[in-house]
Amino acid sequence: MALRCCRSRCCRSRCVLICVCTPCLSVALMFVYVSVRLNMIMKDGSLLRTTPAPAPAPKHIHFVATGTSRDGNFAAVPHHFWRNPSSAIWNQLQLAVDYHFNPVLNPIRAKDASERTSFGDSLLNQSFSEVTMTGRDRNIFEQLPEHLQEYVTYMKSRSYPTLIQPHGLCGAQAEDETEPPLILFAIKTTASNYENRQAIRKSWGQVGWVGGQKSNSSGGEAYGGYVRRVFLLGQETTEDLRGDVSDLLRVESQHHGDILHWDFKDTFFNLTLKDVLFWRWFSRHCDSHFVFKGDDDVFVNTPKLVGYLHDLLQEPDAHNTMRDFMIGHVIEAAVPSRVRTSKYFIPDHFYKGLYPLYLGGGGVVYSGLLAKRLHDVSKTVHLFPIDDVYVGMCMFRLDAFPVHHPAFLTFDFSQEEAAEPCSYHTIFLVHKRSPKQMADLWADLKNTSTQCGHVSLRTDPKTLEGEKRKNFKV
Ligand SMILES: *[C@@H]1O[C@H](CO)[C@@H](O)[C@H](O)[C@H]1NC(C)=O
Ligand SMILES: *[C@@H]1O[C@H](CO)[C@@H](O)[C@H](O)[C@H]1NC(C)=O
Ligand SMILES: *[C@@H]1O[C@H](CO)[C@@H](O)[C@H](O)[C@H]1NC(C)=O
Repeated sequence: MALRCCRSRCCRSRCVLICVCTPCLSVALMFVYVSVRLNMIMKDGSLLRTTPAPAPAPKHIHFVATGTSRDGNFAAVPHHFWRNPSSAIWNQLQLAVDYHFNPVLNPIRAKDASERTSFGDSLLNQSFSEVTMTGRDRNIFEQLPEHLQEYVTYMKSRSYPTLIQPHGLCGAQAEDETEPPLILFAIKTTASNYENRQAIRKSWGQVGWVGGQKSNSSGGEAYGGYVRRVFLLGQETTEDLRGDVSDLLRVESQHHGDILHWDFKDTFFNLTLKDVLFWRWFSRHCDSHFVFKGDDDVFVNTPKLVGYLHDLLQEPDAHNTMRDFMIGHVIEAAVPSRVRTSKYFIPDHFYKGLYPLYLGGGGVVYSGLLAKRLHDVSKTVHLFPIDDVYVGMCMFRLDAFPVHHPAFLTFDFSQEEAAEPCSYHTIFLVHKRSPKQMADLWADLKNTSTQCGHVSLRTDPKTLEGEKRKNFKV
């Protein structure tokens, strides 16, 4: 209309007005668009922000675990826990991946969920060659200690063959299951820890129906859920043992059907592979409501845990809760260990920044739905040598927050607590216990179930515990 008006000389003055104002308007619209986009990137958790963000107000945590003494308002974690730009290999690699999914630079890719799920190793590989080709980064690489150089060389790959799979679709299971399993115990172990596996099979990791125990004194009808079990293993590093151990594992698998064995070196830094490969396997084969992922030297009070999770599923908003559900022992505001002799040593040539909120790896529980979401998001996060921290990074990427529950005891009981007759009825997990202790504790738990059955779950007793938690792995 405006154009036609302009051609008919009658309204030239209005035409001038329009001709001047249209570009102004376009520029204004452009400005609004760019602002909105920039705002989106920042929200997206992409790493491109160059000005430091104000510390976010404590995030509203959607889910507050019942029985927890805290509402999840932990010390504010900087939105970008890893620092950038920087001269650290991991940060550089992650930055390259984040560019790929940046909503301004690559709006289509950023939106396309199928691209995220289909590229597998290739993007990680690509970011790898982008980063390691340049001379400066070659220098950083050479400054890393030898074992980290080895780590970096292999960290782009996560497709290792599966050597042994469980019999059942989703781990060892009872034949009489009449409903989807409540929980799958996924236990990190190594080939030579046969005794631990046997003790777990006979005690807290028994498959089949488990009657839940009320986590408070309200008592009530019998209830519970089905439990399944799988052990996660790589290749034991002792060269001369390898042949024999693999054969023994095969026999063990025939007997119990609970072995998931991959062809990668079973070392401390490779534990993260157990998470990502487990998520992949779980996404293809499993439908359990929950996953317990933990070590083979912990004791779990399965009836208590089953009761708790069963109750959770009954809650009206359970469906929403499940999206982000992860509980355990929260480690907050941790920084990488710069002590050379530490098992957790991470030099600043490898990684700069804080660690995100994460759960101590003795044992954590998350929903099956979250396991699948972690599987997807993990394809956009470079492997990190410390497995608990890596899970925290993936959670961060999902904008999900693990929740602390004091019934996960990474640091054992205090002396007074240990002396109480029903102490093991107040917890979900305690670290660490020998195979013999597991058997004894399991028997005890059964024997004292009438007497102690209705004691409440443990709440955080002392600030001391909180202090310890803060300094863990620092
Ligand atoms: C990874 O990148 C290298 C080149 O840097 C290439 O030779 C190799 O084939 C790539 N591997 C995959 C799985 O894309
Ligand atoms: C115990 O749990 C039930 C649900 O399982 C709940 O309705 C009840 O309020 C709880 N009681 C206490 C004392 O927390
Ligand atoms: C992880 O496993 C791969 C495959 O076996 C191996 O090449 C690599 O050295 C291992 N990494 C570490 C840090 O042990």
